[in-house]
Amino acid sequence: MAYLSYSGNTKEVAEIVESKLKEENVLVDNHRIGIDPPIDPEYYDIIFIGTFTWELGATPDEVKDFVLEIGYKPDNIAVFGTGDTQFGGDDLYCKAVDKLGKFYRSRWNGLKIEQSPRGSQERKVESWVEGVLQHAKSFA
Ligand SMILES: Cc1cc2nc3c(=O)[nH]c(=O)nc-3n(C[C@H](O)[C@H](O)[C@H](O)COP(=O)(O)O)c2cc1C
Repeated sequence: MAYLSYSGNTKEVAEIVESKLKEENVLVDNHRIGIDPPIDPEYYDIIFIGTFTWELGATPDEVKDFVLEIGYKPDNIAVFGTGDTQFGGDDLYCKAVDKLGKFYRSRWNGLKIEQSPRGSQERKVESWVEGVLQHAKSFA
């Protein structure tokens, strides 16, 4: 699970994703985008990418660099992210999630969380993870 988080919201989502995966007996490696050494994408059954959105719907540069670092389009990428509807409404909300999902032709709908997932959105994260795993099993 690779993620980028400046102020902690995306990290919180990543933590819920991780604990849900562990609950389902999935082994998880964490990769802090922009900090940790490159990964070998072929090693993983599913690659989760977590990103926030900023600057009018933009994907952060660190995430773009990670995409270049991977260097090809694996077909097992699931995207989640956080954003804020106050920054330009529905058009720009979590747009980096849409952009990445489209780029990788992800077979999963991207998960969008408004700011911190703690509280009512926690369940939304968990059921998204359940959906990703179910769909992954049907492809195995
Ligand atoms: C300068 C700036 C621009 C932003 N632009 C957007 C945006 O276009 N769309 C969006 O959904 N959220 C936008 N946000 C909100 C962040 O994506 C949101 O706060 C996110 O949860 C931050 O993630 P982090 O806590 O993991 O760093 C913006 C935030 C900042 C500071």
